[in-house]
Amino acid sequence: MEELTFLLQETRLKVDESLKNILAIFQSNTPDRLYKAMEYSALSPGKRFRSFLLLEFGQAFGVPETQLLQVAVALEFVNAYSLVHDDLPCMDDAALRRGQPTTHLKFDEATALLAGNSLLTAAFQLLSMENTHPDPSIRLRLIIALAEACGSQGMMGGQMLDLLGETQKFNMDEIQRMQSLKTGALLVFSCEAAAILGNQGADIIKKVRSFGTHLGLAFQITDDLLDYEESAEKVGKSTGIDQDANKATFVKLLGIEGAHARAEEEVENALQALQKIGLSSSKLEKAARALLTRRA
Ligand code: IPE
Ligand code: IPE
Ligand code: MG
Ligand code: MG
Ligand code: MG
Repeated sequence: MEELTFLLQETRLKVDESLKNILAIFQSNTPDRLYKAMEYSALSPGKRFRSFLLLEFGQAFGVPETQLLQVAVALEFVNAYSLVHDDLPCMDDAALRRGQPTTHLKFDEATALLAGNSLLTAAFQLLSMENTHPDPSIRLRLIIALAEACGSQGMMGGQMLDLLGETQKFNMDEIQRMQSLKTGALLVFSCEAAAILGNQGADIIKKVRSFGTHLGLAFQITDDLLDYEESAEKVGKSTGIDQDANKATFVKLLGIEGAHARAEEEVENALQALQKIGLSSSKLEKAARALLTRRA
């Protein structure tokens, strides 16, 4: 088993169980076809990397596991929604996701659109619930932070830039901004949410965000490398898409070697940030390093 998969295994088992149980809350009064598409998209075998970040930081900050798992499910709903929409013909037009046909191919485009919207909405509903945290002001902070991370100033802004980058020439700063928004923002939220739940002060929140920012870049650069280097069978999702669509990536600008070097640099930056939080030599450190050799 590859190093990253091994490190994420424990989280994956717990989160998969919670995903199943919590998604079931939304079944009553949801049309069966829509629920099936939500289930298909959210319960399919993802890495649960964002949940891992949340759980590791959350444990370090003494947050009860039930709260962490509720927020982890919200995170995975947002991630699943973003992938369902990212794979649509009007976006990346991908056929394979997590080893199975993409949601719009399994169902149809309209159903995929609705399932994605439903998962995004459900994520906010989960954060608003009392079992996320007994203090409503903490819940509100989580909701605001997630809205910022996935809205037009976050993930959606990044996805817009990703599409514009197919026809416009992006320099290094522009690519970095696009990557930080489309992928980094949700990874930063995954780390920050743990600090918010754990009542950490502004200084720790800033350091945790810095870790997430660097890790987010490393994560997306390695994702871009997989798109260039790996087969769809190996990674379980359509590959070669970035090149076909002429997307702006670090690989395009720096070449494969240059992109690897840049990913290494960002992992080092993330590790330094982790040290400043006082959490070095944890599973987080190992997972950050393991990004560099991940094959899925
Ligand atoms: C894929 O995220 C989308 C990106 C931001 C690159 P993951 O690689 O975490 O996808 P899953 O959840 O494991 O399928
Ligand atoms: C997707 O980036 C980012 C989001 C879903 C927000 P990619 O388009 O590179 O992700 P993959 O490679 O399809 O998983
Ligand atoms: Mg995309
Ligand atoms: Mg894609
Ligand atoms: Mg990709």
